[in-house]
Amino acid sequence: MFAAYSSLKNAEKVKLFLQKKEVLHQEYLPLKEMERIYFPMTKKIVVPNAKVITTKFSFPVKQKPLTIDQLLKGKLTAAQLKLIPRSQEIIGKIMILEVPDQLKKKEKVIAEVYLRLNNTIETVVRKNTIHSGVFRTRTVKILAGKKTKETIHYENGIKLKLHLEKTYYSAKTANERLRIAKQVKPNEDVLVMFSGAAPYLLVIAKNTNPRKLSGIEINPLAHHYATYNIIANGFGSKINLFEGDVRKIVPKIKAKFDRIVMPLPKIAEEFFGLALSKIKPNGTIHLYAFLHEYDIVAYKKILQDIAQKSKHYIHIVRYVKCGQFSPGTFRICFDIKVKK
Ligand SMILES: C[S@@+](CC[C@H](N)C(=O)[O-])C[C@H]1O[C@@H](n2cnc3c(N)ncnc32)[C@H](O)[C@@H]1O
Repeated sequence: MFAAYSSLKNAEKVKLFLQKKEVLHQEYLPLKEMERIYFPMTKKIVVPNAKVITTKFSFPVKQKPLTIDQLLKGKLTAAQLKLIPRSQEIIGKIMILEVPDQLKKKEKVIAEVYLRLNNTIETVVRKNTIHSGVFRTRTVKILAGKKTKETIHYENGIKLKLHLEKTYYSAKTANERLRIAKQVKPNEDVLVMFSGAAPYLLVIAKNTNPRKLSGIEINPLAHHYATYNIIANGFGSKINLFEGDVRKIVPKIKAKFDRIVMPLPKIAEEFFGLALSKIKPNGTIHLYAFLHEYDIVAYKKILQDIAQKSKHYIHIVRYVKCGQFSPGTFRICFDIKVKK
């Protein structure tokens, strides 16, 4: 095999050069001998600060990281292994396992293995119930690791303290929050209805320069986490939080907003009239809905009808699929420009 050898002093430079030229062999480890280090190469090229030779010795083989399949071999059958979903949601230091019914009896074994595989994870839980009720919360069962359902999660430059059962949160929608934040212009007044533990508010605060941000949340525990999170991220004076029902709080707010975000996909259209009453001319509303692809056109018509009733003229600039709920059904965001 080809190898480049250098003094230990030049080792880092040589390694970087080999990586840059894509000739560092990925299947073998470098070998240290006395004051020299040998790097395995895939091709013979001239390497500054090193001598290139053909070796008579062999290099140690790199250990490949273990996979979930290898660790579960002997504990689950091949057919059972195929049933484990390959991607699992991680919130902070907690992994949320989706265990198919057929594997319920094996869930602890699977959880222990995930814990071993991933050293950033301290707890593995499984989904007990799906998000439901007015607060959109769910329950989870701890399967392995530390007995906690609270964690600190990082996304888009912010940190969020969250409790998996007390407040709604989905790590899967982090990109969508950044997409919204990227549209916010300097000095905008932004309202986030249904603000939860404040992920939208904080991603906007951190990544843009609005004048003022306001959030409304009905779940007292989500409001509690939001209050903690805006202070922990240093935005206590920029973000105004209201605890209560959007229906009661919005009519009491005198100000109007340049932008209103409505992340309540189950029934956001019920609140669209209220949002229209508080948007400035040429403002933007981001309204989320769970829709089957076939129902998008009809839903746009529903939004147009609501706007027409309150004498507003709207232009649905775009709609974006930002999550899949079930085959054919998506979480969709409508970006709506309100002309007047
Ligand atoms: C789908 S969650 C979104 C939470 C947060 N924006 C996020 O992305 O993580 C919807 C939130 O709306 C809140 N909510 C539901 N109905 C509400 C209402 N009438 N007024 C205020 N908040 C409400 C729920 O408690 C829940 O926290």
